[in-house]
Amino acid sequence: MLHLTAEEESWLAGKAGPAVQRAMEIVVALGRIYGATHLIPVRRVQISGVSYRNLGAAGLDFLTRWLEEGARVRAATTLNPTAMDLRDWAAQRIPPHFAARQHQVVATFARMGVGSGHPIPTCTPYLMGHRPAFGEHIAWAESSAVAYANSVLGARTNREGGPGAIAAAIVGRTAAYGLHLPANRRATLRVTLRARPRTVADFSALGAWVGQIARRAVPYFENLPLADDPLREEKLKALGAAMAATGAVALFHVEGVTPEAKRAPMLAPDARRVVVDDLTAGYTMLDETTEAVDLVWVGCPHASPAEIALVADAVAGRHLRLPLWITCARPVKEAAQARGLAATIEAAGGHLFADACLAIAPVRTMGFRAVATPSAKGAFYLRNLAGVVAHFGSLERCVEAALTGRWT
Ligand code: F3S
Repeated sequence: MLHLTAEEESWLAGKAGPAVQRAMEIVVALGRIYGATHLIPVRRVQISGVSYRNLGAAGLDFLTRWLEEGARVRAATTLNPTAMDLRDWAAQRIPPHFAARQHQVVATFARMGVGSGHPIPTCTPYLMGHRPAFGEHIAWAESSAVAYANSVLGARTNREGGPGAIAAAIVGRTAAYGLHLPANRRATLRVTLRARPRTVADFSALGAWVGQIARRAVPYFENLPLADDPLREEKLKALGAAMAATGAVALFHVEGVTPEAKRAPMLAPDARRVVVDDLTAGYTMLDETTEAVDLVWVGCPHASPAEIALVADAVAGRHLRLPLWITCARPVKEAAQARGLAATIEAAGGHLFADACLAIAPVRTMGFRAVATPSAKGAFYLRNLAGVVAHFGSLERCVEAALTGRWT
């Protein structure tokens, strides 16, 4: 039985207006479906479902009506990527009529108070200073950010749906179920590694393989080589994103590395066990067999400064035959410009785009049919959402494709 406070009851009864009432109805419905006993206050929310390609006219209409009813966010709310760079969209070959609608979507969220009226669309809010504390309850929607927040930061969130996250932002509440409850945070899949992942793409391949085995389980990785690794956060980001894509993993633990696993035994005694002997299967399951490739995409999840530096190193002084696009948050792009990394990448023929995610862009309308990426999540969604040929391989292999125009 879901118990509401007097204030929450009054919101549900419409005393704070129709926008809050609509939001409460969604939060309460979710609570009842999942058997929550109460709601939890949340001070941070992240909204997904921002691409006009996915929302369409009906979705934009729904948002606009909610705004006109008085929808304003109460929590500090961030926005997932859109389908395009909000400033440099023409260079992405985005049709003007689509760009106009995408701008309208972002303006609607801005008027609701998302990003304090100036949203910075990104799937890596934690790289932008939005880092919830250990044990903090939040309501985030982007699957890779959810995996990161739960696992690497030790925060507590379920994977919110699009309207559910907006509703949580408006009322500053989420229902107490799932990963908000300590009992559901113990690992139910023990992963023993005989393989030795080294690069960020290797961690993505590992995640792709484990995700499809884990499905909704909570994996616990033993002997993952991450101690003193300068790219540790990038590797954990890639691992969680891939497991969230090929499975529905929203939380994982790494022995001796992630915060909950450091503080308490997190492995359930009856956990299933899986042994990963090598990473080949993780790479090949998301790589198609054709040679065709006409775009290389790095930055899924959005690239960190260190990842942009890796690309700059790989392409410095070279001449790319194919476009190589890096997606990242706008402040990360600006930092890369200030450090000269963007200039190095652009001199080779690459480009940095802010605000954008290719998996939710109208990729075929933009003229691309085959895309190579060192991200398992990127390859998974390019194939399943964008409907293009996807190649998944190491960063070196992707750069090689950009240099030669072929996936070998
Ligand atoms: Fe981010 Fe899009 Fe990848 S939202 S995690 S860049 S699929």
